[in-house]
Amino acid sequence: MDPSTLISYDHNEELLNAQTHIWTYIFSSLNSMALKCAIQLQIPDTIHKHGKPMTLGELATALSLHQTKCASLYRITRLLVHSNFLSKSKLVNGEETFDLTINSKLLLKDHPMSLAPFALAMFDPTLTEPAHHLSTWFRNDDVSPFHTLHGCGIWEYAGNEPRFNDYFNKAMTSDAKFVGDILMGDVVFKGLLEGVESLVDVAGGTGTLAKAIANNYPSVKCTVLDLPHVVEGLKTNGLNLDFVGGDMFQFIPSADAVLLKWILHDWNDDDCLKILKRCKEAIPCKDEGGKVIIIDIVLDIQNYNINNAQLLFDMALLSDAIGGKERTEQEWKQLFIKAGYDDYKIFPILGSRSVIVLYPS
Ligand SMILES: C[S@@+](CC[C@H](N)C(=O)[O-])C[C@H]1O[C@@H](n2cnc3c(N)ncnc32)[C@H](O)[C@@H]1O
Repeated sequence: MDPSTLISYDHNEELLNAQTHIWTYIFSSLNSMALKCAIQLQIPDTIHKHGKPMTLGELATALSLHQTKCASLYRITRLLVHSNFLSKSKLVNGEETFDLTINSKLLLKDHPMSLAPFALAMFDPTLTEPAHHLSTWFRNDDVSPFHTLHGCGIWEYAGNEPRFNDYFNKAMTSDAKFVGDILMGDVVFKGLLEGVESLVDVAGGTGTLAKAIANNYPSVKCTVLDLPHVVEGLKTNGLNLDFVGGDMFQFIPSADAVLLKWILHDWNDDDCLKILKRCKEAIPCKDEGGKVIIIDIVLDIQNYNINNAQLLFDMALLSDAIGGKERTEQEWKQLFIKAGYDDYKIFPILGSRSVIVLYPS
């Protein structure tokens, strides 16, 4: 082969690979939309209910699709197999069947740890559209792209829009149930609660994690603090638990331990310092058992690579939160020192997130 042809062939191959790479990123939001469609059509629930792998024909019938759309179903299932939400095998007659994977099992409506409500809320245009305004936001003085689009912050928006408030709280409930189920069987977490007689879940949403703690550790008096529109009318179901409507920047009820799950990543460093200082006022000193338990992402922990989910979560915060971000251990450490905590430990026991325990001086 003529060497000049070879060079141009290699160069063309590089260009064509780059084009494929660009296409992948241009269209990757359609991975999310295909998953949203699958959850809304209840594809995982339908396969689960069937009790065994389903052919496309069986699936199309069970999903009650419009007859003109049945032929398109294979295109969604093909992508879901590619993204490991479905598995594919063949019957003896050669016909393909589709089954659930662990990923789609976690999206079943009735799975006790279902993440479907979380997924559906994150797919909501209220949360996805601000990202379209990122470049505008980089050049204006709005506090977040969410503000650029909606004219206010996410918590004010939730307070004024009952539909979104409900959707968002259900999303948090599903994540808190997932985390709670894992933590309640975890020895590290058990150790953290030793000697704790009272705990406040600050910005604890509708109280799912606090309820799990109250159920498993009935001697721990639990309090959930969140904004009034979140905790209004919530029931304690006879648990050693109460709800307080309020603003964590103003006041945090006293307790031995404070829990901050998925809170600090929503806020900029100045706001995090205010929250951490309020927490410090609410707990006793280290020698008397005071501690703050944080559940959040720690980027690059122990030099592990930052994973894609963590990077994308950070972009979601850039779009929807007011200065919120995912932090490296170094960034966390600086915050803790500035807020007056002289000791911390990180337990990477929650997959992409960690449990961080802070001890006040
Ligand atoms: C990302 S959610 C986390 C909820 C819960 N900790 C969880 O992980 O399931 C953040 C929570 O912060 C609450 N929040 C926002 N601003 C607050 C404030 N100033 N005082 C108390 N809660 C607040 C929101 O209402 C929301 O429930």
